[in-house]
Amino acid sequence: MKGLQLTRDEERIFDGEKGEPQKVAIRLLYSLGELGGADRLIPIKSAHISGVSYKNIGEGGIQFLRKMMTKVKVPTSLNPLGFDIENGGPVEIDQNFHKKQMEIIDIYREMGIMESYTCTPYYFYNKPSFGDHISWAESSAIIYVNSLIGARTNRESGPSALAAAIIGKTPDHGLHRNDGRKASVIVNVDSELDYTGFAALGLYLGPKLNRSIALIRGQRKASDLELKAFSAALSAVSSVPMFHVEGVTPEYNLVSDGAEVINVDKGSIDETISKNSSKEEPELIAIGCPHLSAEELSYIAGLVKGKKKVGPDLFLFTSREVKENSKDAVKTIENFGGKVFVDTCMVVSPLSNSYGKTGTNSGKATFYLPLSGYGNQKVTFTGIMDLLKWVIG
Ligand code: F3S
Repeated sequence: MKGLQLTRDEERIFDGEKGEPQKVAIRLLYSLGELGGADRLIPIKSAHISGVSYKNIGEGGIQFLRKMMTKVKVPTSLNPLGFDIENGGPVEIDQNFHKKQMEIIDIYREMGIMESYTCTPYYFYNKPSFGDHISWAESSAIIYVNSLIGARTNRESGPSALAAAIIGKTPDHGLHRNDGRKASVIVNVDSELDYTGFAALGLYLGPKLNRSIALIRGQRKASDLELKAFSAALSAVSSVPMFHVEGVTPEYNLVSDGAEVINVDKGSIDETISKNSSKEEPELIAIGCPHLSAEELSYIAGLVKGKKKVGPDLFLFTSREVKENSKDAVKTIENFGGKVFVDTCMVVSPLSNSYGKTGTNSGKATFYLPLSGYGNQKVTFTGIMDLLKWVIG
């Protein structure tokens, strides 16, 4: 093994001839490449950066970003931040949080990064194609684009995706190669799952898979939205970078010889839902983790249209572009008494400033929201119809 070989140009960057941020970036990529067994850096088509909310990265993160300030080389989108920039909310924030968050935004803006503020950039801002090499952070989006689109990214962190955006390259290892995309576990699921069932399957399977790629069998009718829910939940409780679904995802034929087999029955899914759900009445119904698509917003609008709002608050989370393109649905939801937020989400905003008990259909939020530092919430994890029962009079 010769280790990772840099081109003459890359060596100059490595030696600091092109500036300090570039030097730090390529050295980070070099170390990761050496660890992963890469022999070269390869060009990427796009990057997606997580670690945008001040709640997540704090003062240390701001200092790191200042050190890395330079223009990015490829189209680069950003994850959600701590509040809705134009409309405010979803909860009250203090002045210091606001100031620090705006500092972070200014740095990214200066670097030429898109002001997307969403974990579903693949709907509008940053849509990769099959086979594209990319460098993405945000675990739910990584699994989604690897699995459903067939784009190629390792599970990057905020700093490594930023480094790749600055250099325009990433180390060629892991998920960038065919061998790194093979399923080593086959999961047979004995009954067809709905949206909540897929979110629960993610929570159930994550600890069993750890980092392994699975081929899911028995779910040939799975929709993109259901697999988005699965992606988010699975990524929250494991280091899994992608999955395949037989007959559905584009690379499901990539399976290792002698793959281990796991059987999952409906009872395990029901038990996962019940085990992860508080029995307390929620103060807030929060939907949109990951951020809602236009189709989901329109579906929810149809369910609440003309109805009277009662009970807990209803918050929906999506991206600016989806909201902009769903004006009728948003109006219907707002007339009902719900609120549609952009730029932020239920996990990265300081929800616990105002709420202690939240109902959601998201497996990922069900995992994160109870954690201290993420919301300290008592979570009711259930399907959208049951959630809306709390708010429809
Ligand atoms: Fe997205 Fe926030 Fe959930 S970033 S996946 S809505 S935790």
